[in-house]
Amino acid sequence: MEPEIETAAQKLRGAGAVVALTGAGISVESGIPPFRGKGGLWETIDPMEFAHIDRFLEDPGKVWEVLIKGMKETLDPARPNAGHLSLARLEAMGKLQTIITQNVDGLHQAAGSTDVIEFHGNFAWQRCTKCGWRVETARVDLSVLPPRCSCGGVLRPECVFYGEMIPSHHLVRSQSLSASCDLMMVIGTSAEVQPAATMPVIAKHNGATVIEINPESTQLTLHVSDIFIRGGAGEVLSAVVDRLEELL
Ligand code: OAD
Repeated sequence: MEPEIETAAQKLRGAGAVVALTGAGISVESGIPPFRGKGGLWETIDPMEFAHIDRFLEDPGKVWEVLIKGMKETLDPARPNAGHLSLARLEAMGKLQTIITQNVDGLHQAAGSTDVIEFHGNFAWQRCTKCGWRVETARVDLSVLPPRCSCGGVLRPECVFYGEMIPSHHLVRSQSLSASCDLMMVIGTSAEVQPAATMPVIAKHNGATVIEINPESTQLTLHVSDIFIRGGAGEVLSAVVDRLEELL
């Protein structure tokens, strides 16, 4: 066993409040590509062109065609992987309090996690930009884009676009959990997007241990993370939770 796995399991055993911050990397093993790096969505699509709220409002048909329709096709068949399932196990063991996720795919909840802060919203629902009517994404007819409400308004996913604020209740609760946790697990995020990337910094400043799991190092690795475990989320989290189970 890698020494970092043993250290992480020992730290988890001793910690009181544990919070996880997850990013696109935890869903890679479910077939959802990340945004940055090799094979990342933003390599082929410019987020400022297609994921900014101003561009969506200017030309929603174009954004639906290039970005949102493809997201639906990718997310529809995706199922939780060993990473999501391990975090759900950690919650069931009474060890993990809350997951703050930047992902909009709903896979933590599908795996059984019950306290998930969807920092960037979720893709499961669409909302009319005119009257506010809501409908499940699965029930939206995509034969004509952009899809519209019966009032004529354009539908938009309940995700946070670039140029929009993080819902304040999510931001405030995430900051408060980060400031009060004993241990934060940072999994599969490049930590390049604010304000999510500040959460591990808040945790660290308040004395928490930060454990980072990622196949690549990030800007957190040297200065914020106490333990860096290089590897895919599924394999690493399964190993850490298996070991913790032996220790408890
Ligand atoms: P990124 O795409 O920026 O980063 C994904 C991270 O996952 C990288 O650090 C990879 O090295 C890592 N990774 C890849 N495969 C992995 C695996 N199998 N296990 C664990 N990690 C792996 O994704 P985020 O940091 O989540 O915002 O991006 C943050 C935000 O940027 C997203 O929420 C989205 C995007 O623009 C909005 O949509 C508002």
